[in-house]
Amino acid sequence: MSKELIENGKRSAAYRAVDEHISPDNQVVGIGSGSTVVYVVERILQKPELRHITYVPTSFQSKLLILDNGLKLGSIEQNHVIDVTIDGADEVDDELNAIKGGGACQFQEKLVAEAAKKFILVADFRKESQRLGTQWTQGVPIEVVPMCYKTVMNKIKNALSVKPNCVNLRMAVKKAGPVVTDNGNFVVDADFGQLQDPASLLKEIKLLTGVYEVGLFCQMAAMAYFGEQDGSVNVRE
Ligand code: 5RP
Repeated sequence: MSKELIENGKRSAAYRAVDEHISPDNQVVGIGSGSTVVYVVERILQKPELRHITYVPTSFQSKLLILDNGLKLGSIEQNHVIDVTIDGADEVDDELNAIKGGGACQFQEKLVAEAAKKFILVADFRKESQRLGTQWTQGVPIEVVPMCYKTVMNKIKNALSVKPNCVNLRMAVKKAGPVVTDNGNFVVDADFGQLQDPASLLKEIKLLTGVYEVGLFCQMAAMAYFGEQDGSVNVRE
């Protein structure tokens, strides 16, 4: 798969979502995390009429993206009502359920998505599927309190109604140690194969002691934009 096609897909989805959902009438906009969201900010910067808006980040990466580009930085404490949040995704199904957390930011991403009147997903063609667990095979990202990672992993293996294929503690590059989230937690990736009922699985995992947030965003998005290989944008709503 050519990198250029993928980047073009990310850019066209991000540009179209900004064009259709961020307007000078907005006061507060949530900025997601990941590489596709870089194009969201790129498009915002091309529009001077969007400069007065306050932008709420969903991670340290997203905070830097806002600051380094001279946009007005907000926070969820001060800006708890958000007009629209645009974020990336690891996979989106045809009911607009999403797997997120490939970048370990799912907690803040969910917080900022929930605070938004409208939550919009942007992604390249690789993320589009009928059923979660088809394209994204690295598992559902689960943020866990560090002292609980073993107990949570054991419960995921043995105590859920769906048996996982594998459950891993996410390790940093070169396995130098576990990935640590913006909240000082670890991430466990649990591969359940194709998910038949993501909303029920989300509830079950969320109830396990030590689970901080689950990277399943069920029926939260109003729309998803996918940048296709032929340059078009597929819109799901
Ligand atoms: C980070 C996320 C990202 O939005 C998701 O991983 C998509 O990233 P990218 O746009 O780089 O493909 O959920 O936690």
